[in-house]
Amino acid sequence: MNVNEITPFIGLELSDASYEDLVRPEVWEQLVQGVQERELVVVRGIELTPQQQIDLAARLGEPVPFLISKYRHPEFEQIMISSNEMKDEKPIGVARVGNFWHQDSSFVADPAPYTMLHGVNVPGTSGHTKFANAADVYDRMPEEWKAKLSDRIGLHTVGKRLRIRQEHVGLSVAEFKALIDIEHPKVEHPVVCKDEYTGREYVYGSREYMDSVLGFDPNENEAFFTMLDGLIHDETHVYTHKWTPNDLVIWKTRTTYHIATEVEPGASRTVHRVSIETRRP
Ligand SMILES: [Fe+2]
Repeated sequence: MNVNEITPFIGLELSDASYEDLVRPEVWEQLVQGVQERELVVVRGIELTPQQQIDLAARLGEPVPFLISKYRHPEFEQIMISSNEMKDEKPIGVARVGNFWHQDSSFVADPAPYTMLHGVNVPGTSGHTKFANAADVYDRMPEEWKAKLSDRIGLHTVGKRLRIRQEHVGLSVAEFKALIDIEHPKVEHPVVCKDEYTGREYVYGSREYMDSVLGFDPNENEAFFTMLDGLIHDETHVYTHKWTPNDLVIWKTRTTYHIATEVEPGASRTVHRVSIETRRP
C-alpha cells in the first residue's frame, strides 16, 4: 500500500489497498487522520460491496438514509445512487447532482460532517470531480475581505437550486419565493468558521447555496460572491479527481468545496454515495 499527499493544498491518496488493509487499525487511523487534516482522502481502485462501503462509513459515524427514497439503493437505504443509467426504462438514480461549486448540505442547520463516494461505474475521460479546500480559500482571501467578513453571518438556502414543478404553475414569482421560504427556511452559519481538527479558519458558503451575507446590500453581496468564485475557481488551487474504477473518495463536508463536471454524451456513470452523520449517544 502507498500513501501520498495529492496536492500541497488538499488530499491524501492511498493506493494498492484492499478492504482488509483498510480495516487494520493502523491503516484506518491513518485514513481518518488524512480526512481530518487533508480534508479529502482518495483510496484508488478498491473493490467494495455496498455492505462493505456502509461498514466503512459506520467507522466514521452514522450512515444516514438519503432524503428522497426513490434514489436509495434498493437493498441498502444508506446508499444514494448517483447515476445516468437506466434499468427497465427507469433511471436507477439521480442523474445530475452537484454540478456547481458547493459544500454539501450547507443549507441545513447541522449538515452531516462526511460524504463518501464509491465509483461503481465511471467513464474516466469525463465526469470528474473537482475539489478545493475552504481553508486554503480563506488563506488566499484579500485582507480587506477578511476584515469585512469577520463576525458576519451567511444566510444559506437551497432555493436557488429548486426547479419549478407542476404544482407551481400559476404562482407569481413572489408567491413562489414565499413558498420556498416556508418549505426550505434559510439557515444561518458564520461566514468564517474554525476547523476543530486543524484549527484553521475557513470560508463556509458559496454562491449557489447562499442567499446573502446578513447586513450586506445587493452590491456588496455580488462583490462577495465574485471574489469568492475567483478564489474557488483558481485552477492552481483545484484538485481534479479523474475517477478510475472503484475509487473510494471521502471528504469533510464543511471544509471541502467540490463540483461534478459533465459526463460526455453516451457514457454511463454510477457512483454510490453515503452521507455520514456524527454518531449520537
Ligand atoms: Fe456534493
